[in-house]
Amino acid sequence: MKQFFTSALLEWNREDNTRSMPWKGEKDPYRIWLSEIILQQTRVEQGWAYYEKFIQTYPTVQQLAAAPEEEVFRLWQGLGYYARCKNMLAAARQIVSQYHGHFPNTYEAIQSLKGIGPYTSAAIASFAFNLPHAVLDGNVFRVLSRFFDIDTPIDSTAGKKQFAALAAELLPHGASAVYNQSIMDFGAVVCKPQQPACKTCPLARKCKALHLGLTGVLPVKEKK
Ligand code: ADE
Repeated sequence: MKQFFTSALLEWNREDNTRSMPWKGEKDPYRIWLSEIILQQTRVEQGWAYYEKFIQTYPTVQQLAAAPEEEVFRLWQGLGYYARCKNMLAAARQIVSQYHGHFPNTYEAIQSLKGIGPYTSAAIASFAFNLPHAVLDGNVFRVLSRFFDIDTPIDSTAGKKQFAALAAELLPHGASAVYNQSIMDFGAVVCKPQQPACKTCPLARKCKALHLGLTGVLPVKEKK
């Protein structure tokens, strides 16, 4: 089951994944970080232009760290949730003062930066450094809850533990970057929240939720 999941997902990515985004395949941790912060509360389509504008204005973390806060806020205008922007600037300055301008390259050190939690740290650690950390976001919860028929609420303590353990088991050795990007893309274009594309899904044959008629009720959330 688990082996099938990982290999079928990677095969889908190689053969059928046509999703294109400016930060895909990116290896610069600064750029990955910026994209992940933007995408926390912003849709891909809207975040795209902001990402490119930021990269053009501040091509490096040093340049971002040196920018006045008002200027960075102006560039952020329209994205909302200004705490994201404020934390990002603080973290950029932390990278310059504590890490000599070199983006930290361990999961723990990345997470010690302002505004970076477990999700963003796993994303940067895997995408930039190919470190073995599985990302857990809405896409991942949805895909895993359906394929493995897990009805533990994704926002409960037990659920978070269960999904984190499963996600870690599924992560292929040495391929965390491509695997993490694949599962997010798969959740966004195949195993979608509404009207998942089960008819053409290459994982359908072993998908528990599909066979049990539960794609519409998984994932389960505790709080409304
Ligand atoms: N949402 C957050 N990060 C993402 C990524 N790297 N690719 C697709 N969707 C995302």
